[in-house]
Amino acid sequence: MRVFSGIQPSGNLHLGNYLGAIVNFVELQNKNQCIYCVVDLHSITVWQDPEKLNRNIREITAGFIASGLDPKKSIIFNQSSVQEHAELSWLLNCVARVGWLNRMTQFKEKAGKNKEKMSVGLYTYPILMAADILAYKATHVPVGEDQKQHIELSRDIAQKFNIDFRDRILKITNKEEFFILPEPQITGPVTRVMSLRDGKKKMSSSELSDMTRINLLDTADQISSKIKKAKTDSASIPDKMSEIEERYELMNLVSIYSGISGRSKEDVLYDFSGKQFTHLKDSLTELLVQKICPIGNEMKKIINEKEYIGSILIDGAEKARAIAQPVLEETKKIIGLA
Ligand code: AMP
Ligand code: TRP
Repeated sequence: MRVFSGIQPSGNLHLGNYLGAIVNFVELQNKNQCIYCVVDLHSITVWQDPEKLNRNIREITAGFIASGLDPKKSIIFNQSSVQEHAELSWLLNCVARVGWLNRMTQFKEKAGKNKEKMSVGLYTYPILMAADILAYKATHVPVGEDQKQHIELSRDIAQKFNIDFRDRILKITNKEEFFILPEPQITGPVTRVMSLRDGKKKMSSSELSDMTRINLLDTADQISSKIKKAKTDSASIPDKMSEIEERYELMNLVSIYSGISGRSKEDVLYDFSGKQFTHLKDSLTELLVQKICPIGNEMKKIINEKEYIGSILIDGAEKARAIAQPVLEETKKIIGLA
């Protein structure tokens, strides 16, 4: 098993990133070769303040380390320092079809009515993501639910390449297939953390109001006030999961509780059934403060250790390049470019 995943340095790391992705990254690093990338080239598909981008890259790296990723076990690096990603991405641009990209729901959601005014990069973004994964012949990609369609696209691209160049692949590598079709790993109790203000929207760093999300860098007071003000409904708390399926905000709080505590949603709901919402909220706040604040404090400490973070990223990039470069070279040979 070879694991690859990435997170964009486009603002605050939040609870969605943590429960949907980072917790799984940490879990996977003990038994597999893992490669975790700060995907800075993806982040610039929408405007990033150049004065802040470098700090944001450091912030994600610090978040990785503070959450328990170990640079001795996992390869940690930033995407733009391994040029193979961008080069392979171009080659795959010529394999992927326009019709496939037109089906990507994330582009439609992000672009909304402004499709014509979005960067071309935002549109072709899933192809760069395919290049990230295929450059390492990764077998498993841990992500949140929202990335499933992009990984399916990576599989389609890998498969089309394998079919289009079948004879060349056989001739040059002596194998039937070149790219490995990656499996999405969408696991854990919370694969989709929702906004604290609207249980139908996902928690996101691009949402304007900070009250919709818990950031890893939030203080205990901020966490407490956000959970206190989190939207709920007026009905009482039942004891069966089937009864909260359409009570999205309650479902979200129960899921977060379950994700942080490691207990099942059923057990969590049962414990709070018949009680006031304030009970659930107070207890959840306590859990979040216990779990998130130490990570945030550690992040704040290492984020300014520029040399330490720099050395992790340089070392990681070197190790990443050692894998990606031969894959790119072979890809070029198969296509007939080298
Ligand atoms: P991004 O911040 O968009 O780069 O996302 C990084 C990782 O966090 C990806 O694996 C996403 O699927 C995951 N993620 C982002 N937001 C959420 C969320 N609200 N719930 C669960 N996972 C999420
Ligand atoms: N597109 C992903 C997101 O927004 C980030 C990402 C870029 C990624 N490249 C990747 C995730 C490769 C997994 C594998 O969340």
